[in-house]
Amino acid sequence: MLRSQVIGSGSYLPSRIVTNAELAEKVETSDEWIRQRTGIEQRHIAAEGEQTSDLAIAAAQQALAAAGCEANDVDLIVCATSTPDETFPATATRVQYGLGMTRGAAFDVQAVCSGFVYGLAVADNFLRGGQAKTALLIGAETFSRILDWNDRGTCVLFGDGAGALLLRAGEGEGNSSDRGVLSTHIYSDGRHHDALYVDGGPSSTMTTGHLRMQGREVFRHAVVRMSEAIDAALSANGMSPGDIDWLVPHQANRRIIEAMGKRLNLPADRLVITVDRHANTSAASIPLAMDEAARDGRFSEGDVILLDAMGGGFTWGSALLRW
Ligand code: UT7
Repeated sequence: MLRSQVIGSGSYLPSRIVTNAELAEKVETSDEWIRQRTGIEQRHIAAEGEQTSDLAIAAAQQALAAAGCEANDVDLIVCATSTPDETFPATATRVQYGLGMTRGAAFDVQAVCSGFVYGLAVADNFLRGGQAKTALLIGAETFSRILDWNDRGTCVLFGDGAGALLLRAGEGEGNSSDRGVLSTHIYSDGRHHDALYVDGGPSSTMTTGHLRMQGREVFRHAVVRMSEAIDAALSANGMSPGDIDWLVPHQANRRIIEAMGKRLNLPADRLVITVDRHANTSAASIPLAMDEAARDGRFSEGDVILLDAMGGGFTWGSALLRW
């Protein structure tokens, strides 16, 4: 049985860091409020002219280098983003060009903050189905471009960045001791559009629009839905919370992350947390966190890693993999 195995990871954060204190000079907020309610201390913001594809290419190059692969070894690029460079073509094709890759296929997946888990589900199906051997999965965002910088309820929460995983189809036994992606579970419910959306787009307002969010409503659903997705991942693999070595959740709010950790009875040091330094980078948050933990040696071969996410749509999901 084919399994999608991680053979390299990479990430990129824009150099400009914006602290909570700097934001407090522009909108009525405080470092204390932001830290207490979200755990966020700072975020990275893309430079003028720096586009989502630039972030994605930098992360992808690192992932390729980590795996010792050339761009033309890649059969498929899936870029999870809700902040593409342009309405079309897909940012993934900009990345393909930027990497010097002249073969294979490249497209975007749009599931907002669940984008990376959705993208993993797509790439995993291509690899397990034998339609691609090597896939580059990227989560890349420049949410700073769609924020209403006068809305303190949202502008303090997000940041820019990109993360990438290089996946290769490898043989497994078909059981949960295999290395690689063991399962993915994705869900959506379009009834919740108004709780988290962008009030613009090519076919509605013909403008880019700004992110709008009913934070408390999203919070409430996030805890319930992500818990359900975690249960689905465990049950599909015949595992219990005690089998999980690492939780790498979408990084929106430290309180949500800790609630998920508590539910799994995981010690605090088994949660991979970057929200304090990166804020919410939407589809980029999970691969950014994974790359950090991979590079600093937290992940060991054989570790069971659980990913979960929730975002606009609503969309949500989970993935379970063995490192
Ligand atoms: O990535 C996709 C998924 N997104 C999420 O998971 C986000 C989920 N939601 C959250 O993380 C939280 O709901 C927030 C961090 C967005 C907000 O925290 P909260 O504890 O739910 O606060 P709230 O929205 O209920 O607002 C509480 C108070 C309000 O004032 P009143 O009405 O009590 O007087 C807000 O106006 O805090 C006020 N407030 C702020 N005050 C200072 C809202 N934003 C700010 C701010 N600074 N930046």
